[in-house]
This record gives sequence, C-alpha cells and structure tokens, in this order.
Amino acid sequence: MFSRQFVSRFRFHARQSNTPTLKSSIGGKITAIATLAGVAGVAGFYYYKDPNAAIHEYFILPSIRLLFDGETSHKLAIETFKYPFLNPKEKVGWIDEIDPHRQLAVTLFANSPNPKVKPITLRAPIGVAAGLDKNGDAIDTLFNFGFPYVEIGSITPEPQPGNPKPRFFRLEKDQAVINRYGFNSEGQKAVLARLKVRLAQIGGLLDTSIPIVGQPINNSLRPESALAISLGKNKTAEAIDDYIKGVRTLGPYADILVINVSSPNTPGLRNLQAEAELRKLLTTVVEERNKLSQDVLPPILVKVAPDLTEPEVESIAGAVKDSKVDGVIVSNTTVARPQSLKSDKKIVSEVGGLSGKPVKPFSIQALKLMRKHLGDDITIIGCGGISNGEDAVDFARAGADFVQLYTGFAYKGPAIVGDIKKGILRELDGRNWSDIVGKSK
Ligand SMILES: Cc1cc2nc3c(=O)[nH]c(=O)nc-3n(C[C@H](O)[C@H](O)[C@H](O)COP(=O)(O)O)c2cc1C
Repeated sequence: MFSRQFVSRFRFHARQSNTPTLKSSIGGKITAIATLAGVAGVAGFYYYKDPNAAIHEYFILPSIRLLFDGETSHKLAIETFKYPFLNPKEKVGWIDEIDPHRQLAVTLFANSPNPKVKPITLRAPIGVAAGLDKNGDAIDTLFNFGFPYVEIGSITPEPQPGNPKPRFFRLEKDQAVINRYGFNSEGQKAVLARLKVRLAQIGGLLDTSIPIVGQPINNSLRPESALAISLGKNKTAEAIDDYIKGVRTLGPYADILVINVSSPNTPGLRNLQAEAELRKLLTTVVEERNKLSQDVLPPILVKVAPDLTEPEVESIAGAVKDSKVDGVIVSNTTVARPQSLKSDKKIVSEVGGLSGKPVKPFSIQALKLMRKHLGDDITIIGCGGISNGEDAVDFARAGADFVQLYTGFAYKGPAIVGDIKKGILRELDGRNWSDIVGKSK
C-alpha cells in the first residue's frame, strides 16, 4: 500500500525527529504531573495543618476509629503528636483576630493564700484535661492546636503498666468513652527527663513569631499559657508519700500541679476524698510545695469525682479551704451509667470511668455544689462532657472559672479548640468570660 520511499522516509523521520519530540513531550508531561502532584501535596499539607480543617473531624478521625481500637488509636495519636511540625497549628494571631477585645482572657488564682503563688492569665478559658498525654510526649502539639492550658499525667512515682487490656472502650453513639487504664505511667523519672529535654531545646521548639519578650517565663514556653502536671499514686504505695514525691520531682517543671484523688480505676484512691484523709494529704502537699526553691510557686489543684453527695462536697470544700489549696477540678470520670446511654449494653456495662457527653449533668451538679460550699474566691476548673461553646458557658454559669476537656477532643480532633472559642464568643454576646464565671449565685 505504501511505497518503499514513503516507509523509509517515515522511518527516517521517526528516527531523526519524532522520537526525541515524543520523548521530550513524555518528559514534559511527567514534569507537569510531578509539579501538579507537588503543588497538590503542599496545598493538601497546608490544609491539613489548619486545625480547623474539616478533614480532621470528618475523615481522619472516623478512618482511625474504623481501623483501630480505642487504645491503639490513642497510642497512634500520641506517637504522631510527638512531632509538632507534622501536626496542625493554630495560626499565630488567629485568637486576636476572632477576639480583638480579649473577651476570652481569664486570670486564675488571683486570691491564692500564698503570695509566692502568682495569678495566671490564660488567653482563652479552655484546656486539655489529664489522661490524653499521660507521659508528656505531646505538650507542644497540644499547645499548637490552640489550647492555652495543657495538663499532662496522671504520673505515678514509679513506672507501672496499669490494668490488663482491653481497658478503653468507645461508646460512639453517646460520644463517650469508658476507660479503666489504672494509671499506666512511665513514671516520674522518665517524664522528668522528657521535660528537661524539652526545656533544653527551647530555642528549636519555640515559635519565634510569638512575642515572648516581656512575658513571664513559664513552663508552657508561650505567653498567656500554662503547663499543668497531674500527679497520681502507684497502685500499692502509700498515698501521701507518692504525692510528695511528685511535688518534689515535677513541681519545679509545672506552672500548675494537680493532685488527682478521683480516678475510679486505682483501688482505694477515691477514699482519699474523705474529709480527714483529704485534709491531711492536701496540707502535707501544700507544705511540700511551699518548700520548693523557685521564686514563683505552682498553684495546687485537687481533682474530684462527679459522684459525690452534697455532704461529701461540703467536707471536701472544708478540707480545701483549711489546707490552703489553690483550687479544685470538678470533675473526673463517673462510675454512674445513666439510663439514657444508647451504646451496646455489653460495652456500657464495662467497668471503669465514663467520660464525654453523658457526664456533663453529673459534673455540673457537683460543680454547683462545690462553688456553693467553696465561696467565690477559690479557682474551680470545670470538666466533663464539654464539646462546644455552649457547654463551656454552662460550666462557667455553674461556677467554673475555666474549663478543660478530653473526650470531646478525641471525637472531634483539633477543630474543637477553635469551635469552642468561637462558640463561647457567640454565647458571650459582647460580654467578657470573666463577667459570667466563678460565682456561687
Ligand atoms: C482514657 C482516659 C484516661 C484518663 N486518664 C486520666 C488521668 O490519668 N488522670 C486524671 O486526672 N483524669 C484522667 N481522665 C479523666 C479526664 O481528665 C476528664 O476528667 C474526664 O474524662 C471528663 O472529661 P471529658 O468528658 O471531657 O473527657 C481520663 C479520661 C479518659 C477518657
């Protein structure tokens, strides 16, 4: 069909000119695809780095829940959170954009009985509760999400493995969790070493775009923020000795110390909430804290359960005032199982502490009673089932100066921080957080 001349001319043409053109056009396409993929990758990473991006709540977290059990997901999150640069970060100055009149700023411990305990101002009234970062692996990532308060622990003096697995159960339909970890902790020595390394790396870790000059130095390494350390006790040890060890070892590295006597998963721990026991424990702990050599001493908070009768709350309030502790966290998880729970009965009946949405009424009730018996001068941090701005404001109206959360974050991811800040501002409707908080009436 084709003349030889045509074929040979075609071959010649293909050899001499078409092949390189073909090659260069394939090369060009590969370069274009690689560039597009690179741009898409960078844009995707930039999007992922925004804590308010929907991908966290609606894709990443549901996928993790689908693939892994509760404890594995928790471990995976902490492993990732060890590397702040891989994680979302609230844009510098974002809080001033949404809150130009500083309606969210709050000052805690203004009336501490010890003059070496200074008031602490936080840029927004929302923090991370204990139990998420048990060993202080994720501090900077959690601050970067936009929490101005991060509480690590509870940390026991000696390392201990906690209870046998499984010990973390999701109640997804209830946006809740039951856990019976039982103070799994790497122990004070390991956490202390980690905190020292973090402080030594201060130059590398600090975001230099945040103005820190002129701000009081604190252990959060950020302005208007605080690092709290929650202390626990070993399963078989003497309680007072263990908390004293915690104050001595970790006190110098904490902006706030928390004495946790309310985990339901360590046998006998909650008995420390009984008045005489608590008064002795807290008095000793405050004395020990007062011996620390630093100029500014960390305020001490005691964390209580939501499962308390009014006489029990009254006696705790008495012990708090007598021992000159600086504040109370209300509350830890509950051992109650409300009828309203919708999750599988088998999971609902697991032993352990229930956290998340269903805890809120219990915590609010205990909080109201605590404020009633403590009066207006002592700082109270509210905790239990907070997942939006409305919840936070409900806690403020019930008597809390500040709020913290864990389970809401586990379900919603880092977007919960911005959501709550914006939600509180909506609820405040032009007022300041400090106008509505911490009052017994
Ligand atoms: C898995 C898990 C582990 C926890 N571990 C601790 C802990 O070690 N120390 C502590 O004081 N509270 C611990 N808590 C309780 C929380 O700090 C918080 O008080 C409680 O969960 C109620 O708040 P939430 O409903 O926002 O989670 C833990 C909670 C969960 C879900």
